[in-house]
Amino acid sequence: MTSVARLSRAAITARVPAKINLQLAVGPARADGYHSLVTVFHAVSLFDEVTVAAADEMSLSVTGEDADVVPVDQSNLAWQAAAALAKAAGVRDAGVQIRIRKRIPAAAGLAGGSGDAAATLVACNDLWQAELSATELAEIGADLGSDVPFALVGGTTVGRGRGEHLTPALAAGTYHWALAFGRHGLSTAEVYATCDRLRAARVAAGKQPEPAEPDLSHPLMTALRSGDPAKVGPLLSNDLQPAALSLRPRLRRTLTAGRELGALGAIVSGSGPTCAFLAKSPSHAREIAVGLTGAGVCRTVAHASGPAPGASVVRTGT
Ligand code: C5P
Repeated sequence: MTSVARLSRAAITARVPAKINLQLAVGPARADGYHSLVTVFHAVSLFDEVTVAAADEMSLSVTGEDADVVPVDQSNLAWQAAAALAKAAGVRDAGVQIRIRKRIPAAAGLAGGSGDAAATLVACNDLWQAELSATELAEIGADLGSDVPFALVGGTTVGRGRGEHLTPALAAGTYHWALAFGRHGLSTAEVYATCDRLRAARVAAGKQPEPAEPDLSHPLMTALRSGDPAKVGPLLSNDLQPAALSLRPRLRRTLTAGRELGALGAIVSGSGPTCAFLAKSPSHAREIAVGLTGAGVCRTVAHASGPAPGASVVRTGT
């Protein structure tokens, strides 16, 4: 471990994408309370920006989407990311002002909080000239949250373990999405707990076997290699969707409305409540977004494309 003094006073801005899960296969709960999973992460062009600048103390401010519900103290993953990086890199005087500009809604199943942590790691690594490798940043990130290592790499990537063990997916083409944001966020922990409860009830009723270790969907991987969204759409899957729908029954209407607007695939993103709709083209993604707004089945909408790159520095200076 090297000891790095405060070397720079410039402000550094990093950008990070939202993610959706093209497949989310959830296994049984592990001894540590996490669930073993196999997922296909897909980063999309809806970005938060995190600006860090040297300061005497740690501070954090948030503007933009859902700013009023995002904590501005040590409970924010971005704050924890800066502290963890300073410790790992041996940075003295590690005061830092963190400013987060959000476009990714909070508690939405889009990994916005994990993304902000990833952007903070990348920005502080640059600010402090700490020169930690991508692997070291991913190790620090995995301790902060299961989705942080993916937010560092972006693209279309297979995640295993609790989501932190990554391998690139061979995916071709660009995919266009309409995203429907819910009125209130969902707690990831509550959605996993609901998934366990629903499964236990079905097992007790003899309707399904005990959950097995999850498998990667090879039909989905083949479709992704073809680059054809019409092949990918029907293969999107999310084992957390029944739990999210039981906690937010109105999301069924949102999914139905998107399908009626011609979406090639319609799915709850991660633990929800965001619904993601795969479109035929950029203009079709905009049409779906407009149609969902008109149908009044969500709080607000966005359109985005993927795969997008992971967290990276986009500006130096304020
Ligand atoms: O890792 P992260 O902090 O994002 O996880 C939030 C919560 O989601 C965990 O506390 C756990 O309840 C649940 N989770 C899980 N299995 C995973 C990932 C998350 O049970 N693989």
